[in-house]
Amino acid sequence: MAEPNAAIVTRGLAKRYGRQVALDGLDLRVPTATVYGFLGPNGAGKTTTLRILTGLVRPDSGSVELLGRPFGRGERRVLFRVGALIEAPSFYPFLSGRENLRALAAAGGPVPRGRVDEVLDLVSLRDRAGDRVSGYSMGMRQRLGIAAALLNDPALLLLDEPANGLDPAGIVGLRETLRALAAQGRTVLVSSHILSEVEQLADVVGIIARGRLVREGPVAGLLAREGEVRLRVAPDEVATAGAALERLLGAGSVRRADDRGGVWLVARCDPARAADLNRQLAGAGVFASRIEAGATLESLFLELTGSARDGLGGA
Ligand SMILES: Nc1ncnc2c1ncn2[C@@H]1O[C@H](COP(=O)(O)OP(=O)(O)OP(=O)(O)O)[C@@H](O)[C@H]1O
Ligand SMILES: [Mg+2]
Repeated sequence: MAEPNAAIVTRGLAKRYGRQVALDGLDLRVPTATVYGFLGPNGAGKTTTLRILTGLVRPDSGSVELLGRPFGRGERRVLFRVGALIEAPSFYPFLSGRENLRALAAAGGPVPRGRVDEVLDLVSLRDRAGDRVSGYSMGMRQRLGIAAALLNDPALLLLDEPANGLDPAGIVGLRETLRALAAQGRTVLVSSHILSEVEQLADVVGIIARGRLVREGPVAGLLAREGEVRLRVAPDEVATAGAALERLLGAGSVRRADDRGGVWLVARCDPARAADLNRQLAGAGVFASRIEAGATLESLFLELTGSARDGLGGA
């Protein structure tokens, strides 16, 4: 059963490499005409997922729909409408950037004349397009990889950490290009570690950890729902303050985070409750020296992927 308005649907994708589990029942739903940020810690399974979505690797079980059609062994035609850049792109080093793109264009689906120079322009590589790729910098190779992924004017673009090696101007340019593609009704999936960048770029994010989806949804909605309030307290007041906050919010809702300036208590709750929390602390005889409320993709990511510091523990 194909899902409408979804460019990618995966159901129960599983993949192991020997005893190493890469994907453990991954369910993704990437809405059409959005930029989807695909996030997860190192080894979470992002690249494996992209390899499966481009037919480079077969899953052990589970199913994939691409652009509204089941995608499997016998169904590769959809790949003519998919562009992808997965890990480091490989090119013929002795050919120029332009010649590499021409070779790719000749090998794939039909590409109109002039498209090679169009994509070289899009990634600001036109003035170096005649030089051999062996003399390209890392960022220039990455730009060429993005150009290659755009060559067939894909309805679905899959980019594995495309910002790798790009300078700030390159990152801004990439963001504009990807936003423009989504505005034209195309779908872009970008895996990334640069959370602040994804927060600006993506409409929807999917966060995975250990081969499973842990959260998926519109960025704004996720951040509003999964807010936190951070309160700076003196180290010797952590126990009293933590207990008071947990009486208000429930056990397990508060964790401790230390930084150079001292101790923060981080409470998971609606940021609008900051004043309540402050009052609760004062009631327990603790006065916070600073209060911050809100949520960032980074704090959500650390929380959901278990990369955050330990909870309150016995402190
Ligand atoms: N070819 C392979 N052989 C053996 N194990 C592999 C192979 N490819 C991936 N794995 C394992 O599968 C898991 C997922 O790897 P994957 O490359 O998909 O992660 P990732 O999310 O892309 O990580 P990163 O952020 O570091 O790029 C890891 O434990 C990895 O060691
Ligand atoms: Mg990877």
